[in-house]
Amino acid sequence: MVNKINLSKIGAFKVLLPFITPYKQQFLIALLSLVLAASATLAVPFCFRQIINLGFSSSSSNLINTTFISLFLVACAVALSTSLRFYMVSWLGERITADIRKAIYSHVLYQSPEFFETTQSGEILSRLNTDTTLIQTLIGTSISMAIRNILLLLGGLVMMFITSAKLSIFIFTLLLLTVIPTMILGRRVRKLSKNSQDKIADTSALAGEKLNSISTIQSFTNENTETTLFNQFIENSFLTARTRNIARASLTFLAIFLGFSSIILILWLGAYAVTRGEMSGGELTQFILYTVIVAGAIAVVAEVIGDTQRAIGASERILELLQLNSSIKDPVQPSSIHVQASQGIDLHIEQLSFHYPSNSIAVLKDVSFHIKPGERVAVVGPSGAGKTSLFQLLLRFYDPQSGCIKLNGIDIKDVKLKDLRKLIGIVPQDVVIFSTNALENIRYGKPEATNEEVFHAAKLAAADDFITRLPDGYQTFLGDRGMRLSGGQKQRIVIARALLKNPPLLLLDEATSSLDAESEHLIQEALEVVMKNRTTLVIAHRLSTVKQADHIIVLEHGKIIETGNHASLIHQGGLYSHLAKLQFTDH
Ligand SMILES: Nc1ncnc2c1ncn2[C@@H]1O[C@H](COP(=O)(O)OP(=O)(O)OP(=O)(O)O)[C@@H](O)[C@H]1O
Ligand SMILES: [Mg+2]
Repeated sequence: MVNKINLSKIGAFKVLLPFITPYKQQFLIALLSLVLAASATLAVPFCFRQIINLGFSSSSSNLINTTFISLFLVACAVALSTSLRFYMVSWLGERITADIRKAIYSHVLYQSPEFFETTQSGEILSRLNTDTTLIQTLIGTSISMAIRNILLLLGGLVMMFITSAKLSIFIFTLLLLTVIPTMILGRRVRKLSKNSQDKIADTSALAGEKLNSISTIQSFTNENTETTLFNQFIENSFLTARTRNIARASLTFLAIFLGFSSIILILWLGAYAVTRGEMSGGELTQFILYTVIVAGAIAVVAEVIGDTQRAIGASERILELLQLNSSIKDPVQPSSIHVQASQGIDLHIEQLSFHYPSNSIAVLKDVSFHIKPGERVAVVGPSGAGKTSLFQLLLRFYDPQSGCIKLNGIDIKDVKLKDLRKLIGIVPQDVVIFSTNALENIRYGKPEATNEEVFHAAKLAAADDFITRLPDGYQTFLGDRGMRLSGGQKQRIVIARALLKNPPLLLLDEATSSLDAESEHLIQEALEVVMKNRTTLVIAHRLSTVKQADHIIVLEHGKIIETGNHASLIHQGGLYSHLAKLQFTDH
């Protein structure tokens, strides 16, 4: 055969088993209707023979009636069972793909950042869309087509041999000669179609990326270059599509030409057989109809083999993804951290050393410090010192290579991730706004929060004022990635989101960096209030924001080089006082 299925790879289909088993009943109904439809289809040519052989004129009207009524009943059976089969297998295809999509998405959402560093989101989307669609084709169409056509093929062959063994052997050789070149060309067409689809996908990926950075393109006046690049992509996909269409046109020619030639040849030979009295006219008709059924079945089975191969590839990729385990795991025997309401939390960091999985250079080296409940500690230091990395470890996005982090005396590795992250509110360096309204963007911090709670959090974050001035107030859609907001406004929404969670440990990474002096002052005042009853770690380049901190930790190249409060650090005359000199003139 031209298309061979690699049997060792069929194992990849085991990924489908857990998704298929819940629907055994539906599969059974589909199989029954399929067998019924195939048997009824095979009965049609037989009925035709009866009709033609009857020769109408000479027979009794009784016989005519029974013959036509049985043909009518067969037609009804074909219609009913075919539509039932179609509905059942399509339902199964859609249902199972929907379940697989849900499983992939929720699995991916639980992966650690390490996974996202190595896997591009485009790849995940392709698992989610393209690969699941291939499986949908397999379950929703290919499998039933294969079974149906194998039944038709076998049944048709048996009936052909019963009708005329001599003609059958002859025609079967002819069929193989017809079907094999058609299959080879068909395979080429499919490959070219895939190329063509890939090219279109590349083109839209390119357009998607560029449209997202339209202001950069325009500010560098690169519209022309981008247009040329896009045009090249489009021309490429056109050329691929043209090659595919040439192959397709040849395939159509070959299929029609060879198909008709074979039928003409059988008729020709058949006509002689009929004149010689070797077979009746009805038998010849029956024979030709079975030949058409068999030829069609061979072509379909060949096509299904191609679909199956692609579905195996898709299943392998999905299996690979679903078998990935996040490197950050919940402990086997989780402990729980008890937090006294409105007291904050005790944070102990002991000899923490860490490098990212993708890079062996240490970003934190032997970092130790202690923060008592309710204290406010600032982390300062040059860009790249490891400040944000420290927050990543606190949230347990990564595990340190040595040392540990304890909250109220309990190692965060011994707590369920969900319970740990519940205790922490973070305002990240890169603020994220979802494409929904202001209300829901803030409510993201605590999905069950009432509107009043959201308004309160917005007021605390000095966001209420500008939100109420938006065209639809809290209901205003904030645009894709919050495009309709200024940098400082986005930051205040994100601060409100973190405050709504009301966490005992608050992490602020450059929380006020995009704000003007007045808004910064407003937020500073608001943060003063909210920081009272919780432990807060603040990262800031602007030292005006850290002056009031109980402790200041100065980090450089992943090491703590100075600690103290503002006054003592200035007095020490080290890095902090150097940074302070650059920023203040008033001391
Ligand atoms: N995901 C990552 N994989 C590998 N290296 C990383 C990753 N994230 C950060 N780094 C590296 O770790 C170092 C510390 O980065 P980090 O983001 O902690 O710096 P930072 O102190 O927050 O700097 P900034 O003030 O500019 O925000 C940098 O050298 C950076 O290149
Ligand atoms: Mg940072």
